[in-house]
Formats: sequence, C-alpha cells, structure tokens
Amino acid sequence: MDVLALILAAGQGTRMRSALPKVLHRIGGVCLLEHVYRLAGAVQAGETAIVYGHGAEQTLGELGHLSATWIEQKERKGTGHAVMQAADRIRDDVKVLILYGDVPLLKQETVETLLHHASGPSLGLLTVVLDNPTGYGRIIRDDTGKVLRIVEEKDASAEERAVREVNTGILAVEGGPLKRWLKALRNDNAQGEYYLTDVVGLAVAEGYFIDTSHPAREEEVLGVNNRQQLAELERAYQSRRAADLMERGVTLRDPARFDLRGEIAALGRDVEIDVNVVLEGNISLGDNVRIGPHVCLKDAVIGNDVEILAHSVIEGAVVGAGSRIGPFARLRPDSVLAEAVHVGNFVEIKKSDIATGSKVNHLSYIGDASIGAQVNVGAGTITCNYDGVNKHRTVIEDGAFIGSDTQLVAPVRVGRNATIGAGSTITKDTPEERLTLSRAKQLSIEGWKRPEKTRK
Ligand code: UD1
Ligand code: CA
Repeated sequence: MDVLALILAAGQGTRMRSALPKVLHRIGGVCLLEHVYRLAGAVQAGETAIVYGHGAEQTLGELGHLSATWIEQKERKGTGHAVMQAADRIRDDVKVLILYGDVPLLKQETVETLLHHASGPSLGLLTVVLDNPTGYGRIIRDDTGKVLRIVEEKDASAEERAVREVNTGILAVEGGPLKRWLKALRNDNAQGEYYLTDVVGLAVAEGYFIDTSHPAREEEVLGVNNRQQLAELERAYQSRRAADLMERGVTLRDPARFDLRGEIAALGRDVEIDVNVVLEGNISLGDNVRIGPHVCLKDAVIGNDVEILAHSVIEGAVVGAGSRIGPFARLRPDSVLAEAVHVGNFVEIKKSDIATGSKVNHLSYIGDASIGAQVNVGAGTITCNYDGVNKHRTVIEDGAFIGSDTQLVAPVRVGRNATIGAGSTITKDTPEERLTLSRAKQLSIEGWKRPEKTRK
C-alpha cells in the first residue's frame, strides 16, 4: 500500500526564543523539518505532505523547494486539527504515516517496522518507556496489556500519570478509517484542543488492534523544544555520523569533537582526522588524507596523500594528490591545486590554478592567478588583482621564481623560468629566463649620524 507521510510542523516553538520558526533550526547543517522530510523519502513515501503554520513565509522561503504538498494550518488547535487540514488529501487506500517536524533523529528501520504494523484493522503506534514521562501522553493498557487509549498529561488522573510508557506521537494507519475518526474528534479536554491521540481510543472502540513498536534508542523520538535540546540532539546526530565514518575506515582522534554538516561522498582509505574539524557541504577525501586539528573544509575535493595542517580553512577548492596545506592557510572558492603543491602559513588563495610542484609557503595573497609548475612564490608576494573597479589575472609560467615581497600588478605575466628580484613591483610582463627587478638602488650616506636627544 502506498504511504502518505504527513509531517506536523505548524507549532510555534516559543521556548526556542527565536525569530526563526522552530523547524528551520538546524542539526548537522540541515533544517529539522528537512531531516524528517528525508526520512519520509527513505521509507519510500509516495507523497509527503507538510502541515505548516507558524512562520509560514520563512518556512516556505527556506524549504519551499522540497517536493512536498504544503498544507497551511492557519489556526493551531491541536495535533488532530493539524491532521484534519490534510483530510481531503488523504486517500482511503493509503497508509498515513504521522511524523513530527521537530523530531529529527527518527530512524528508517524504526519507521519501517511501524508501517509494517499498520495494515488492515491494526494501527501502528510508536511508544517508549521513559524514566521521566512528564509532559507526554500516557499509553493506557488493560490487564492483558492491550492498548486502550492515550491520555494527555493534563487530562490524566494521578494513577494514569504514574504510567511511564508514553506516546511519541508517531503513528501509522490506513487513510479510510483515519478520516472517519478525525470527524469524531472533539476538543472538550483540558487544553481545548483536537487531540490526534484520541484516534487511538476511537480505533479500539471499532475493534482495531493497536500494535505498538519502539525505537532502538530514546534519542530517535526526542523532539526539539529549546536550545538545550537542540544542542543535545546535535551531539547525538554527530556521534551517529562519527560512528558511520569510523565504520567506513576513518580514524577520528576524538569522535566527540568532530562535526559533519554535509556528506562525504567519496572517501579513501586510512583517512585521519584530528580534533575539532568541521566538514561542510560536499566533501571528497582521497586515500591517506590527514587533517590536522581545527580545520574547516567546505565543498572541497582533497586528493590522495594530502596533508592539511592545523587551523586551515578550505572552501570550494580542489587540492591535488600529495599537496601540503597550512598550518593557517586559506583556500577560497575556485582554487584548483594540482599535485604536490605546498601552501603554507598565512597564505590566501582565491580563484587561482596552481600547477604541479609549486610552492607558496609564507604570507601571500594569490588571487585570480594561474601559476605554472615548479614555481616558487616567495614570502609576502601579493597579486594586486583589483584596480578598484575590475579584477585582473596574473599568469606565472612554469619554473618562475618570485622573490619575497613582490607585488604583481595585474594584468601581468611572468615568463617561463623568469626570476623576480625581492621587493619588486612588477607592472609589465617579464621575459622568460631573465632576472627582472624594480627596486630603488641601495645607498649608504657618508658621515650620517643618528640624531641625539635634545636637552631642555
Ligand atoms: C503530543 C501528543 C502527546 C505526545 C507528544 C510527543 C497530542 C494531543 N499529544 O503532545 O501524546 O506524548 O506529542 O511529543 O497529540 N502541531 C501542529 N499543529 C498544531 C499542534 C501541533 O502542527 O495545532 C505539531 C507541532 O508542530 C509538533 C507536533 O504537532 O511538531 C506535536 O505538537 P506538540 O504541541 O509538541 O504536542 P504535545 O502537546 O507535546
Ligand atoms: Ca512536544
């Protein structure tokens, strides 16, 4: 039977104390709601519908591109009311899977089991036993263990409150009966809301069996209501990602100090990652890549045997095999380094190609440049790529040697095997194989003395 995933995401999230709707807060760089949306995709839901409300404009602005049916809940009168908004989209012969937009860590296997429990006269309900059930709806069973209904905490008797098995809110049932029960929901309860949970009692009254299943770990069903919980779930999420990487053969010096906010699509063997590394976007790491402490990589392709030393930041760049980057290096977007390139401390590279074996080891800015093979760029070299209006390119051909503290005023070309004397300001193309320098002649003044301090 086809699955319709219905994600409830209209709630306000007051306790986040945020201008952002709760479901747009992120875990692992991805909005809470998108985590749930991806889960729906993973369990092969034929359609995903999202009930949204609070922060409607922002939510659509950020996530409107998802291929989901967006259903606005203008007034928020409870979880049952939220599902009612979608009622005319629910076919009789579909399995409806209810998910919460603020419960991001639910696993595919858990939902698959739940769906399996929802067919014919059976409603699948995900429950969990908590040491502290405060705030949750309690699962009320009879003496034989059969589920009878769910009672919300605010409506529960003292005896019912003592029950530690709670409703996670996640459930699955066929569309036909669900729509029937939705029509029968009433709001004569402590909160004056239409509770989706009342569907359980209605199902039992019709002879339905409530088939409960449970997540492998409690974290799966935890929701985000405040920043504390957001941080806790972030850690839980990151420890999953770290475990997955270690499973794939990565050495993580400390999995508790590692953050992945994206995907490592390609991963070589024997990658080593030191502490406090943040990987974002699409990352590809070759064999034997070593990443030092406090490194940030975003949308980067790192070749085999590359070493990235401490405190380097690489974004939108390609680093060829055997290269060594950092410490304290910054590679900006559209930088492509070929093999065995060395980029050292306090060097910034932007929108530049550097060919095999070239070195830019100290304190330089290389922007809008093409650097050939086996070039040595001396300390403090600057490509002056910007005239205040336009950007211009610098070309340095193979084998050139650029003396320290050189300014290359673009557009300019340094010929093959040319040598530039230290301290030069190069404004015109320089010939191959020659020494070119522009430097005031050094002179020493005869008879010069240091001034002496005047006495008053
Ligand atoms: C709900 C359950 C409770 C369960 C708990 C688990 C009901 C009546 N109670 O309680 O049994 O233990 O979840 O966390 O269902 N939402 C809307 N529109 C609304 C109201 C809520 O979209 O009008 C969404 C929220 O954004 C959220 C989800 O539904 O994603 C749950 O709402 P919430 O207010 O957190 O439900 P609880 O009262 O905590
Ligand atoms: Ca809640």
